[in-house]
Amino acid sequence: MSAAHTQRRVVVLISGRGSNMRALVESGRETNSPYQVVAVLADGPQAPGLATAGDLGIETGVIAPRPNGNRDSYAAELAAEVGRRAPDLIALAGFMRILAPTFVDAFAGRILNIHPSLLPKYPGLHTHRRVLAEGDLEHGATVHFVSAQLDAGPAVLQGRLDVGRGEDEARLAARVLELEHRLYPLAARWVCEGRLACRDGKAWFDGHALASPLQLAQFDGGQDAA
Ligand code: GRF
Repeated sequence: MSAAHTQRRVVVLISGRGSNMRALVESGRETNSPYQVVAVLADGPQAPGLATAGDLGIETGVIAPRPNGNRDSYAAELAAEVGRRAPDLIALAGFMRILAPTFVDAFAGRILNIHPSLLPKYPGLHTHRRVLAEGDLEHGATVHFVSAQLDAGPAVLQGRLDVGRGEDEARLAARVLELEHRLYPLAARWVCEGRLACRDGKAWFDGHALASPLQLAQFDGGQDAA
């Protein structure tokens, strides 16, 4: 059987530029990758990542909310479109919508998200600005399983960096993003290899419930970022 037959199927949901989506697609094309990205779906036609995905030769689709719809009707339509691609894993990559519980339940334990902070610190938006305003010395990004609460499902993997003295928001965001591009493919790979799973509201890695998220430095050697 060819690798394509044994690879797990990943659907990526985006709203924006899609740099994490690209990292997932490229990692999925590496030799022996346990997964491939089979479709990239956006919540509007304006998402710049759609063109990127098209250039990468990935099937794209747009599922935009309808003018008279609500969160549940959108969730049903999205679930149908995602389900049609028969995903083993759904990766939210800058998808700017809170998913209705019906969607989360339909794909229980099979949805990952990446968030640009060391969760549970700084759920929500403008994380880099808030980190700088608080004077935090450390920042980073977190991959977590998705629950019905925003940025609150079981965290599985984090990458950390030291905030530079006088560092501005743009530079900090760029450094965190570089970390994200290493974190997300690694977590997706683990899920698709069966090493990482979500059960009973907990993340499990190699058969053990995680009391706290894994740290990139444990797997990458040394410091997460310069
Ligand atoms: C990333 O910072 C991700 O953590 C957050 O949204 C941003 C998406 O960036 N959820 P991109 O579209 O993947 O470049």
